[in-house]
Amino acid sequence: MPEAPPLLLAAFSLGLVLLALVLCLRRWGLAIPFIYWHELVVQPLYNLFMGNTKEQRILHHVLQHAVAGDPQSVLKAIDTYCLEKEWAMNVGDKKGQILDAVVREQCPRVVLELGAYCGYSAVRMARLLEPGARLLTIEINPDYAAITQQMLDFAGLQDRVTVVVGASQDFIPQLKKKYDVDTLDMVFLDHWKDRYLPDTLLLEECGLLRKETVLLADNVIFPGTPDFLAYVRGNSRFECTHFTSYLEYSKAVDGLEKMGLQASTYAVDAGSGNLWKLLSCALAVCPRGLLSPGGSNASVMAPCPTTHTHL
Ligand SMILES: C[S@@+](CC[C@H](N)C(=O)[O-])C[C@H]1O[C@@H](n2cnc3c(N)ncnc32)[C@H](O)[C@@H]1O
Repeated sequence: MPEAPPLLLAAFSLGLVLLALVLCLRRWGLAIPFIYWHELVVQPLYNLFMGNTKEQRILHHVLQHAVAGDPQSVLKAIDTYCLEKEWAMNVGDKKGQILDAVVREQCPRVVLELGAYCGYSAVRMARLLEPGARLLTIEINPDYAAITQQMLDFAGLQDRVTVVVGASQDFIPQLKKKYDVDTLDMVFLDHWKDRYLPDTLLLEECGLLRKETVLLADNVIFPGTPDFLAYVRGNSRFECTHFTSYLEYSKAVDGLEKMGLQASTYAVDAGSGNLWKLLSCALAVCPRGLLSPGGSNASVMAPCPTTHTHL
């Protein structure tokens, strides 16, 4: 086969890069390419130069500019820093107001957050919890989890929040036994987007969702969670509401999806099926591969030998 001349290859590659850039600009405007540029190029150089990380700089800014024991001032300091200095993947103030409204509406006693990052949304939710209510937040990155803990300590919210370091898929099956959770009142999904669907299925399998549990999922438009949205919107057990908003600290469109669980399959009896399910979840061997996303209620739940009662 004749070899392509190097100049032709270079021109072709450049053409592809330009095409990708034009497509990005057409879809998202300048905001998203700018964020990628900052995250992938500027920030690593800045980290190298400063000898610390962006997350440490955010915490430092909070310690310098917020008031200890005042969660609102912590949120303000994070928002100001991320708006003016460095973009970061907190839910941010605009979508944060939607999060606030859902927490206020639900008055949850037990909240689970998947993905803590620097603790912005944990501070946001915990400040609104009623006395005695608690938030469990799980973060896979130990450095981020440590920042979250310091953020909560500074905001004076440490008594309401448990920060767990680990992967959601390992943590969810331990919630009942190790963290004394019966069922969850609210779940905020804000970790890696390809985990939204498998973790929702896992929460169901482990018997952690009940009638009127509310799930709230961030970033369903950008970066987007098409498999998850198709599953919940195509499933009559979830009553879905979409809230259009903006990606944190930008003008790019994003949205939150709220899913309220309808009365249907969530009361499981205490028979042997339920025991099997709890045991398999405790051992973290729920047969997730057997579940069929997007299917009917029966097909989703069928592989777990559980009795379902309509509430
Ligand atoms: C968008 S950030 C969370 C932002 C945070 N909720 C806020 O608004 O302040 C996503 C976080 O999820 C974490 N993460 C990703 N996959 C995870 C998993 N499987 N389990 C736990 N944490 C995960 C990432 O390390 C990252 O810190």
